[in-house]
Amino acid sequence: MPALELFAPIAADMQAVDALIRERLYSEVVLIRQVAEYIIHSGGKRLRPALMLFVANALGYKGRNHYELAAVVEFIHTSTLLHDDVVDESELRRGNKTANALFGNAASVLVGDFLYSRAFQMMVSVDDMRVMQILAEATNIIAEGEVLQLLNCHDADVTLEGYLQVIRCKTAKLFEAAARLGAVLAKAAPEIEQAMADYGMHLGTAFQIIDDVLDYSADEAETGKHLGDDLAEGKPTLPLIHAMQHGTPEQIARVRRAIESGGREDFASVLETIQATHALEAARNHARAEADLAIQALQPLPASLFKDALLELPPFAVSRHF
Ligand code: IPE
Ligand code: IPE
Ligand code: MG
Ligand code: MG
Repeated sequence: MPALELFAPIAADMQAVDALIRERLYSEVVLIRQVAEYIIHSGGKRLRPALMLFVANALGYKGRNHYELAAVVEFIHTSTLLHDDVVDESELRRGNKTANALFGNAASVLVGDFLYSRAFQMMVSVDDMRVMQILAEATNIIAEGEVLQLLNCHDADVTLEGYLQVIRCKTAKLFEAAARLGAVLAKAAPEIEQAMADYGMHLGTAFQIIDDVLDYSADEAETGKHLGDDLAEGKPTLPLIHAMQHGTPEQIARVRRAIESGGREDFASVLETIQATHALEAARNHARAEADLAIQALQPLPASLFKDALLELPPFAVSRHF
């Protein structure tokens, strides 16, 4: 995938991060190199490293630690994807077979662990306790989010608040950490650091809501992921929660049954209910509200090209097709 146009102001930085990613992937163990290179060079959007670089640049950071930490954030993201595709039994990612489909579950989980722990080696090399605190907390919260989601699977009574809690943990937390780290590197004042963290949290929340919308509406050729993976796992995501709040008793019962049983058989009928209740529009509106909050959080940031890009990220997260 070519880099997003939006990343033009940090194109050179992103290249430096990519070079570092390649270097840091190295292991003597051939299978680790195979699986890790397969997934990491398969064309992710690199949104989280870009977020950190934009914030660091917008706050005038002049050092080089942002490259290492941007690579750390991408490694953490990648390892969660390796694990996530095993748990979700997904077969397609970034337009290719998932690592679990190609190399098996065991290799995916173990190489995911390798990337996680490599990320920790790298963050330690930056030798900053505050940085380590932020990343240690983020990874722990992400893991908590994935477990919370596991508990919510096949539970049709999950509330909007329960859903939001999961996505804030599993997805938005890493966006928050990336944005906060950009500010910490630049030695920003505490209120600026908090504003950047809030920005990341709202952006990441909007991003995951749209990911959940795309699971019912995307063009698979664009997302490179199969539709219907969420329903197959019985995940009570926002489109389903909305459909159950606004459907007829019969429609509600249908969605409830589909969540409880999982699988792909009910996809067409659930999609019908989603459309009848305008659930995707409602979810997009929720994402838009989060995107607006992200933009508001940028207020204290001085004007720059980097700030302009940060202002564009929330609308991108909402309108994206991939
Ligand atoms: C996918 O994230 C997982 C979610 C949190 C929704 P991305 O859509 O950022 O994945 P890549 O890295 O661009 O493939
Ligand atoms: C994101 O959730 C998972 C992580 C934060 C690892 P999903 O399960 O919806 O992500 P995709 O759709 O598989 O990319
Ligand atoms: Mg998944
Ligand atoms: Mg998804």
